[in-house]
Amino acid sequence: MTKQCDVVIENVRIASMQKNGKAYGILSQSCVAIKDGKVLAIFGSSDTSYQSSKKVDGENKWLLPGFIDCHTHLVYGGNRANEFEQRLQGKTYTEIAQQGGGIQGTVNATRDASELTLLTSAIKRAARLVKEGVTCIEVKSGYGLDLDTELKMLKVAKQISEHLPVSIIPTYLGAHTVPIEYRSNPDDYVQFVCDQVIPAVAGQQLASCVDVFCESIGFSPAQCRKIFAAAKTHKLNVKAHVEQLSDLKGAKLAAEFGAISVDHIEYLDPKDIPALKQSGTVAVLLPGAFYYLSETQKPPVAALRANKVPMAIATDLNPGSSPIASILTIMNMASVLFGLTPEEVLQGVTLHAAKALDIANKGQIQTGMDADLCLWDIEHPAELVYGINQHRPAAKWFAGREC
Ligand code: NIG
Ligand code: FE
Repeated sequence: MTKQCDVVIENVRIASMQKNGKAYGILSQSCVAIKDGKVLAIFGSSDTSYQSSKKVDGENKWLLPGFIDCHTHLVYGGNRANEFEQRLQGKTYTEIAQQGGGIQGTVNATRDASELTLLTSAIKRAARLVKEGVTCIEVKSGYGLDLDTELKMLKVAKQISEHLPVSIIPTYLGAHTVPIEYRSNPDDYVQFVCDQVIPAVAGQQLASCVDVFCESIGFSPAQCRKIFAAAKTHKLNVKAHVEQLSDLKGAKLAAEFGAISVDHIEYLDPKDIPALKQSGTVAVLLPGAFYYLSETQKPPVAALRANKVPMAIATDLNPGSSPIASILTIMNMASVLFGLTPEEVLQGVTLHAAKALDIANKGQIQTGMDADLCLWDIEHPAELVYGINQHRPAAKWFAGREC
């Protein structure tokens, strides 16, 4: 019996990224049938059951899942080129933040920006990622901090998907820095986040996750605990920026709340890794911020690997610590700077990134999953990690549609 589908992609080598015991989840079949935005079937060239008026010859190129950038802050006003200059004159990221710059500088610019201005600049940044094969982006708020601007940022984030072939997963990051108006009573700000913003975000379904910055220049573990509890009350997932600049035991705390990811983790104590394994938390590595801030403390990759904690990779695209709108560059950095293998890096931007966002239908080429696919003119998947600025997708499908 023949089955009609919307598109058949033939003659491809498939790196499915499934965990099927083969490197890169390589499959022996060479054809993919797409219907209603999903992968209907993966089959061999001799199988004639799948028919479509639209057939694409993949010319023996490699088909991979679309990449997922699971940690960005790409909605923001202004930029921080001035701080880049200050840092080159010797000031640290922490000193700049303590002097009222850093995140607060971007908060001022974001509060002043109209929704349209924010959307226009966010689309430009997201488009850079999309051109490199990204089909899903997590976007955090956190540059508004007051109720209106946080909701404005989350609405802008959602709108990006109306302009580009990409899905957006918005995350509420109210606990990014204590805003200037609350600097003398930070606990009141935490209360405001818990009592007013989280219920509004959940009520309007503007985000599925709540994130925090657990750090001396961010929020204490006790404050993060309150925010996690409020997030859970409102049935939102928990994620956390932890152990980026020091070890405050934020990862352990996040694990206690079943966090879907802990991000940065350069200063993570290997002793805390079993707790992450137990809670099923993904370790999100952000080599762009490590590179850009000229950090020297590397995340405990060997211990994460030994404990089988899934590692994801993301751009952390933001105006302060990682103004890097290139997932492919970040993928190379993850290998060169942190020592991940090319296969680990590709898992980090596909199936592990999906897990870091708690999305079940993306990040692998598999029957029933979203048909977000990229075709690459390469001889082996490792080439996508090995070079910098060498490749762009030869073809791309988002939700089954060529784009
Ligand atoms: O992930 N660590 C906190 N947040 C961002 C930086 C934001 C900024 O500097 O604007 C990060 O690195
Ligand atoms: Fe971040």
